[in-house]
Amino acid sequence: MPQRVVITRRIPPPGVERLRAAGLLPEEFPSDDPPSRAELLSRVRDVAAIVAMLSERIDAELLDAAGAGLRVVSNFAVGIDNVDLAACRARNVRVTNTPGVLTEATADIAWALILAAARRVAEGDRLVRAGEWRGWTPTQLLGLEMNGATLGVIGAGRIGTAVARRSAGFGMRVLYSHPRDNPELDGPLAARRVELDVLLRESDVVSLHIPMRPENRHLLSRERLSLLKPTAILINTARGAVVDEAALVDLLRAGHIAAAGLDVYEREPALAPGLAELPNVVLVPHLGSATTATRGRMSAMVAENVCAVLTGREPPNPVV
Ligand code: DGY
Repeated sequence: MPQRVVITRRIPPPGVERLRAAGLLPEEFPSDDPPSRAELLSRVRDVAAIVAMLSERIDAELLDAAGAGLRVVSNFAVGIDNVDLAACRARNVRVTNTPGVLTEATADIAWALILAAARRVAEGDRLVRAGEWRGWTPTQLLGLEMNGATLGVIGAGRIGTAVARRSAGFGMRVLYSHPRDNPELDGPLAARRVELDVLLRESDVVSLHIPMRPENRHLLSRERLSLLKPTAILINTARGAVVDEAALVDLLRAGHIAAAGLDVYEREPALAPGLAELPNVVLVPHLGSATTATRGRMSAMVAENVCAVLTGREPPNPVV
């Protein structure tokens, strides 16, 4: 009897093919929509592996519903804030993720948001589509010039570094906040590591690249957000809950922050009240890793991690 691997959403083919080739029985949820909790609890029963999406809560209840045969939770994401690691450890369930393969794609979406928010692309698009554009004028939709502006990167790990690297082409000064120096930024970009509050006060564009750990919840609190310049732009492609989203809405509405570009939200897919009505925000639906190539690599990677654990090997991307 082949071991069952439940995949909680449709994923690109490479992963499913790899699991089949290994003699496993992949059971893909036949939808792009998140399953209900009840469906999830019932479909994980007696599986050997769960390929989970970042929107699924993998907690004690779900692990117990799967039963004692569950050996691995292979998260289809680099972020693992949806997984209760202690509950997995307590049940001897391995946890894996997909680091590295989505770095460049996520850095690209951060830059898409930086440029869109700085140059008011979405506002301009809405104006043109609404038939309200009455022709070129010297004062229309003036934005922030990248050349000479300061980019503040919060979290200079893989993705933060890739975002900072791209700023060289725009002639920006780079500040970063991180627990230690990052030689990839210090040398080639002459970047400066500074305290978070200094970064918030001095940057024109602030981009978040830290994982969602309990200590990072509302790291950008109302007080910290208030340190931003009134001309500053905030970009979040990390996790929604690192920013107090309600405070962000208030400060954007009051003009204490010029604009924001968001890929992630505190209570996805719900938005903080008022956010979608603000003209000075660019909102995309958690697209960080959404390129055909990257999602294909993530698919192969989740399968490789499952195959390794189920054949008694160390998985390539262990978390637990
Ligand atoms: C991740 O992998 O954590 C990303 O948020 C997915 O795009």
